[in-house]
Amino acid sequence: MKFATKAIHVGQGADPATGATIVPVYQTSTFTQDAVGVTKGYDYSRAGNPTRTALEDCLASLENAQHGLAYASGCAATAAICHLMKAGDHMVVSSEVYGGTYRLFKMVMEDLGLNFTFVNPTGPDAFVNAMTPKTKLVWLESPTNPLLTVIDIESIAKAAKEKGCLTIVDNTFASPYFQQPLALGADIVLHSTTKYIGGHSDVIGGCVMTNNNDVYEKLKFIQKAVGAVPGPMDCYLTLRGLKTLAIRMEQHAKNAQAIAEHLSKHPKVSKVFYPGLASHPQHALAKKQMSGFSGMMSFEIKGDVAQTKKVMESFKLFSLAESLGGVESLLCYPALMTHAAIPASERDKIGISDGLIRLSVGIEDVDDLIKDVDQALATI
Ligand SMILES: Cc1ncc(COP(=O)(O)O)c(C=O)c1O
Repeated sequence: MKFATKAIHVGQGADPATGATIVPVYQTSTFTQDAVGVTKGYDYSRAGNPTRTALEDCLASLENAQHGLAYASGCAATAAICHLMKAGDHMVVSSEVYGGTYRLFKMVMEDLGLNFTFVNPTGPDAFVNAMTPKTKLVWLESPTNPLLTVIDIESIAKAAKEKGCLTIVDNTFASPYFQQPLALGADIVLHSTTKYIGGHSDVIGGCVMTNNNDVYEKLKFIQKAVGAVPGPMDCYLTLRGLKTLAIRMEQHAKNAQAIAEHLSKHPKVSKVFYPGLASHPQHALAKKQMSGFSGMMSFEIKGDVAQTKKVMESFKLFSLAESLGGVESLLCYPALMTHAAIPASERDKIGISDGLIRLSVGIEDVDDLIKDVDQALATI
């Protein structure tokens, strides 16, 4: 079965109890047992729920994975993976990660005795050089949030494997439609399903997919023991969004490419970050490891902070909002919004400047989006 078919059908057969064509919202915390310990496969919704099973099976199929697990948020999925480590263990992390990932590692997990080294993600050497005998996991995001750096997943996963470490790829920006990290050698894929997978900015969620049975068994236990699970209604909304992932991603990428090309020629723009542009420093790598360039981009204007804010506040169709990956276009100011948890000195080192604007390009008519960009830039 191909991607678009799997998104609509896997895990989503007719309901065995009623024949309902669409997976029902099993809004129940518990399940009546036929006799003590005799169940129909479910006993308590933290451990498992049929609506969640449908979502997990479908998500796994989209990453060509054997196993999928759903969480209450992308950060809950990230925390679950941290639970694979114990005090004293070490993780090598790309310095370009979502601000909330950085916050969870530095401000929560370090207090529990886990250690993290952040490295420049553009070459596999930096990851290898940072590994110690205590290194258990290697974490990267590609393309990165918000600079759209493309990281060589295959080389890093290979080097990590040689050192006995597992590689985790946060695939949120590409979505499984455009990038398949497990096929490139990664051990675990993570998504904030809040973004492209849900696709409609109406539900928070996360997921993890893997082909490693041992990792799956541990994560399944952690999911039940820690309990950061999504409710049935959230699973239903995510599944409903997921059905159109293929068609949405095509349009996100088409619109983003057109806007990136337009901005690259705009006299008030100094730099555009989009992997689909031939001028992007890792364009060749992006072409190799992705089948499309997705809908996220950033750009810098020729102006100071006040002018950047003026432009941002002048958009009419793009909403000034955190998050990304919904059908509607959004813009955000990473330095003060999504990446505010990263100290200014670190942000400077990474290249998240005060003039950087991030766009999540939606699936509206691209002519209207370009008109909106132009009128906002015309205000300075
Ligand atoms: C790349 C990336 N990973 C993880 C997360 C965290 O996901 P959530 O907000 O669903 O907890 C985000 C949120 O913006 C993200 O952009």
